Order: sequence, then C-alpha cells, then structure tokens
Amino acid sequence: MSSKDKKGRIKAVKSMFDLLPPESGRVQSLLNSAVDIFRRYGYGQIATPIVEYTPLFARSIGDATDIVEKEMYTFDDRDGRSLTLRPEGTAGAVRSYVEHAVSKREPITRWFYAGPMFRHERAQRGRYRQFRQIGAEIFGVPGPAADAELLMMLWDFFSELGLEGLKLHLNSIGCGVCRPVHRKALVDYLTPQKEKLCEDCERRYTDNPLRVLDCKKEGCRALSEEAPKTLDSLCGDCSEHWTGLVKDLDHYALPHCVDHRLVRGLDYYNRTTFELICTGGLLGSQNTIAGGGRYDGLVEQLGGPSTPAVGFAMGVDRVLLALPPEKPELPSVCDVFIVARGEEARLAGLTIAQSLRKHGLAVQSDPRGTSVKSQMKRADRLDARIAIILGDREIEENIATLRRLTDSEQQDVPRDSLEERVLAALKG
Ligand code: HAM
Repeated sequence: MSSKDKKGRIKAVKSMFDLLPPESGRVQSLLNSAVDIFRRYGYGQIATPIVEYTPLFARSIGDATDIVEKEMYTFDDRDGRSLTLRPEGTAGAVRSYVEHAVSKREPITRWFYAGPMFRHERAQRGRYRQFRQIGAEIFGVPGPAADAELLMMLWDFFSELGLEGLKLHLNSIGCGVCRPVHRKALVDYLTPQKEKLCEDCERRYTDNPLRVLDCKKEGCRALSEEAPKTLDSLCGDCSEHWTGLVKDLDHYALPHCVDHRLVRGLDYYNRTTFELICTGGLLGSQNTIAGGGRYDGLVEQLGGPSTPAVGFAMGVDRVLLALPPEKPELPSVCDVFIVARGEEARLAGLTIAQSLRKHGLAVQSDPRGTSVKSQMKRADRLDARIAIILGDREIEENIATLRRLTDSEQQDVPRDSLEERVLAALKG
C-alpha cells in the first residue's frame, strides 16, 4: 500500500487514524467517565512513556507470543538502542512500579492509565495498528478479593455507560506448580491428533501448547473443545483462589461464564484470566472489549520484590464501536450563540460571552462580521439552545434580544439581568 494518495499527497499510516470532532468528544467523554469510576474505587493515574527499551516487552509479554514475534514496532534510536512503541500498558506500569520502588511506600497500589498502543496486526474493523487502551492494575493483594473488585469496577463502568450484550468470560490457568500438570495432560491429548492442528498451532504445540486452546481456526477449536481443562489440574492454592473469586462474584451478583479456552495471548498471566465480550453495536468479530488477569510473577521477573498483581485493559475504539453513536453523551459545543450587527454590538457581545463562559457555558459567535441571517444559520447548525441578538436597537436601549432556539420564543432583556435570564432559560 502506498504512503501517498492519487494526487501524490502523503496519507496517515495504514490502520492509524486521526481523531477529529465529534468523535474526539466521544473519546474524551469516555475517558472522563473512566476517570470518575477510577476515582470512586481509589485509583491514581500514571503515564509512562510511549516507547520503552525492547527487552522489557520480550521479557514480560514473552518471546514466543504473537505480539513480540510479529506485531511490535521496533527500531533503533540514534544511539543504536533498540526501542519499541508500547504494544500494551502493563509492562511499562510494572517497570515504573519497580523503578520507583513503589512497594516500599505503600502496601497496596491502584493505578490506571490511558493512551495509545501499537501493534502491527492485520487491519480490520475494531483492530487497528494504533489503538487506545484504558487500563488498571492493582499491586500487592494476593487474594481473589482484588480480582473480584476489579471485575466489579469494570462491570459497573460498562453498565453505567449503557453498554448492552455484555458477557464476562472467566478462567484460571493455574501457576508454576499446576501448569506443568495441565501441560502434560494437554500434550498427551494432542499428540495422537497432531496432524489436525493448524500450522501456527503445530509450532505452539511445541513452544506453548496452552495457546492451542486459544486458536480460532475451526479444526483447532474442535480439538480444544474436548481438551483437558486448566481448571481440572489446579493445585490446592489455585483452586482456593478460584473458589474465592467465584464466591465474591456471586456475592456481587456479577454474572460470568467459565471459558476453559481463555488462556490469553500474553505470557505473564497466572491464575485468573478474563475477557469481556460484547455482542452489540458495530463490533464484528473483534468483539473483545476488555481483557486481563493476574500476573503474580511479573514484578519479581522485572527485578522488583515478589508482588502479586492483577489488572485489565479495555480497547477504547472497540467500546465506542459497541456503544450507540449518541453515547457517551457529549457536552454541548454551543449553549449560547451571540449574533451581533455592527462594531459596538460586537464589543458588547464579547463582554457578554466572556461572563457567560465564566458560568461554564459554551458560547460562540461568528467573528467574520457576516449578516444577521447567516449568523442565525450558524447558531442553528451548531445546535445552540439560545441566541443573544445585539443590533442597533439593542445597543441604544441597553438591552439584548434573548431567543430560545428550541421554540423560537424571544424577549427583550435588560443587559444587567441578561446573565441570570440566560442561566434560567438553559435550566428550564
Ligand atoms: P489485551 O487483551 O492484549 O491485554 O488488550 C486489551 C484490550 O485492548 C483488548 O481486549 C481489546 O479491546 C484492545 N485491543 C487489543 N489489540 C487491539 C487492536 N489491535 N486494535 C484495537 N483494540 C485492541 C492487554 O493489553 C493487557 N495489558 C491487559 C492487562 C492489564 N492485563 C493485566 N493488566
């Protein structure tokens, strides 16, 4: 694919998109709702760099994963160091947690982040090479109460947004003690049927057989249906963690379905794994709107003290596709439009606009000095609720014409009570 259009003009990079109004308003509104729910659950915001040294991702996400093997944007900087555009947020968050010795300052840390991630995947609706994630991580809680709290928060968030057709898929993939037991059972099951595996899974069968369970190809799916389940091999501790999690979710009345194929595509997970699938809106096959799980070994693996952790990330672009276009609700871009004719009226309009903006209103005018008719048209196009009209008569009598654009009712209002009347009209 060419980097230029037919006229030779340079285009945006494939599968990386500009964000323009009004869509940018939806993204911001979603972010505001997320910030609000994170505040209510006690999370602090972090921002880590968009690039990290490449080995961070290889070491945390795993050398043999699709992300590290095929999807990373990796390049040498001018000092010859290999850098990578972050494909996800957990690795950077953990690096930061270790680098700033956060565990010494507080026993439990709740962080959230939002920003662009980069993966060179096959482009399609809901799957982009630059996409946005909002993610959250809890450090320092070993028990399932943290997993349940996180899921509750995620569920609350989507419910408050009005997202419909949501399903929570849940699994446990065990730990270093029980995973080898499951791995052996799985390999024993797959070996006599090896020729039925797809090309990718033939390789996975040797490198990481668990990932065969996750393959979407029909032949592999048929095989994985009957395959030994991770839940059947859990050790005592993992089993207890799982039972505790299910108990808490039942207590919260949070519906979930056990999905034994849910092993996730990143190597750092242990015990709990989950995904939220949404069947509504414009989402096609890319209908996983959020995913996450526990990663109790990662902090230590990256040089920190042994610290249990659990987290998730949601795909902002996918959530917006799943929501109806009128959601999340956008703040108004124009509550009041000021229509002015003549220089004196223009100046009076500026003063009025400034004082209304101090009350939090969105106020616009047309600084080009066009006709009253065209200014009124502009007010209509912007969906303004009120127009304040200032012409020769209004200036002479020290009044303004207040016109409610919803029903075209208008009144003369003395200038000194204008602010009050506008605020009252907008409330009504
Ligand atoms: P992930 O499942 O790779 O997990 O990504 C989380 C979410 O990001 C997905 O469920 C999806 O909604 C969205 N997403 C992923 N790739 C794309 C893409 N190419 N285009 C659009 N959206 C996409 C993680 O990233 C983990 N760091 C989550 C986590 C946090 N686990 C523990 N803590």
